Amino acid sequence: MSDAAAAIWTELKAMPQRTLLELFDDGERVSKLSDRIEWSGEDVLGEEGAKWNSGIQFDWSKTHLDDALLTQFEKLSEAMDFSGKRAAMFGGEKINNTEGRAATHTAQRGVGTDAAVEEAMALHARMKMLVEAIHDGALGDIKHLIHVGIGGSALGPALAIDALTRDFAKVDVHVVSNIDGTALEQAFAACDPKTTMIAVASKTFTTIETMTNAASALKWLEDNGVDDPSGRVVALTASPEKAVEWGVDETRILPFKETVGGRYSLWSTIGFPVALAIGWDEFGEFLAGAQAVDLHFQNADGRANLPLRAAFADLYYARVRGCQTRAVFAYDERLDLLPDYLQQLEMESNGKSVTAGGDPVDGPTAPVTWGGVGTDAQHAVFQLLHQGTHLIPVDFIASIAPGDDLNPAHHRILLTNCFAQGAALMAGKESDDGARKFEGNRPSATMLCDDLDAATLGALIAFHEHRTFASAMLMGINPFDQFGVELGKQMANAIEGGGQSFDASTEALLEQAGLG
Ligand code: F6P
Repeated sequence: MSDAAAAIWTELKAMPQRTLLELFDDGERVSKLSDRIEWSGEDVLGEEGAKWNSGIQFDWSKTHLDDALLTQFEKLSEAMDFSGKRAAMFGGEKINNTEGRAATHTAQRGVGTDAAVEEAMALHARMKMLVEAIHDGALGDIKHLIHVGIGGSALGPALAIDALTRDFAKVDVHVVSNIDGTALEQAFAACDPKTTMIAVASKTFTTIETMTNAASALKWLEDNGVDDPSGRVVALTASPEKAVEWGVDETRILPFKETVGGRYSLWSTIGFPVALAIGWDEFGEFLAGAQAVDLHFQNADGRANLPLRAAFADLYYARVRGCQTRAVFAYDERLDLLPDYLQQLEMESNGKSVTAGGDPVDGPTAPVTWGGVGTDAQHAVFQLLHQGTHLIPVDFIASIAPGDDLNPAHHRILLTNCFAQGAALMAGKESDDGARKFEGNRPSATMLCDDLDAATLGALIAFHEHRTFASAMLMGINPFDQFGVELGKQMANAIEGGGQSFDASTEALLEQAGLG
């Protein structure tokens, strides 16, 4: 870290810590710290008269950010050359320095260099053709898709399909990630092999879980008398040559670029199962919502940049207040997989101990991301949030429009509970009885969506991508590599290969399981 950045951190840590209720003495607080990103079909897709128009309110007023802290973090972002690094990302420079690659996930949504956008659109066009051919029945009667992939090749599709197909899916998709065969068997039980396709999603096309699941899925088609089972396999990959070697027909390979990181790949052909389930037009809206956030992130500066503002708060809690976790609660059943998705995005990106230059970091990096859905979580883990000894910043996410058609009381109670929790965490409650006393002064942020449609989900995910990137830039780390997951993989391979000895505990466990 530069001397300038170090001095800013020293000052930050020494700044007075006012309570949330004191901060609310400022009558302008909500308007200063609550802002909206919106989009419309016409603005984003260039469709004349497109009807949809929507947005998300990002309310960070119940965090401890105030004018002084925001100014200090703005100085930090200058000292860390945030704007330069952001321009480098959108400009296609190799900001993933440890792997010598650019990060072109935003180009998949139409924002980036002309060359990267053009390339992404060409690959999308190929995906669109296959999606529409399947919908039109050109590949036979396809009712189900088993999508095998893991990590970034599964979490995004699983989240988007779960969130957007509660009422209706054009094709019934089952995302299978775990090597535990029970996961694949469960998908088999829900599908008819005669009308099922298999998508093998793997950036590298070498991941052992995915390749094993893919082979078993292919065998299931063969065992069930499907003619030409290989013709039913689609590969989504940045290593098309490996897919060909594995036996996938070239016409069924949907490639994406190596510069699209695994946990940032939902927008590329890894999104194929999403497009198949929701249809190409809705997939376009999903990309367009993300694009609206890209344009905001690319053009807004300082505190007006909402992902950057969120990163200011995240760093403040991690590095000044010592918070080791951050919780996210969606008050929307459709987002029940969002915490899983954000865990990979944030922890695999920013769970680092060295800077991009390879030096030890100057403080804690990514907190542990965890969470669940409201109101369920209130009756399980909120006790600790209100009265436990940990200070845990909380994000609430909700939609004004309901996802259900039942008595409106359901949605009213859901939203009032969401807002009440934020208010209670902040206000606390006095009592002479210690057990009934709530300290309060516990921070939360709220993301209130007009509706939870495809564009909004795209916008929400893109917001979190940029928030993660902004945090990484302020800490000086590379969010696009993940060497930390390699060691365990190598050891598993070594155990599988045999002939090597391990520590006494591992040897004993292998022995007990009959694997020694
Ligand atoms: O576990 C590490 C990781 O490389 C993730 O980053 C990635 O999303 C996942 O494995 C799957 O990798 P692949 O898409 O190459 O199969």
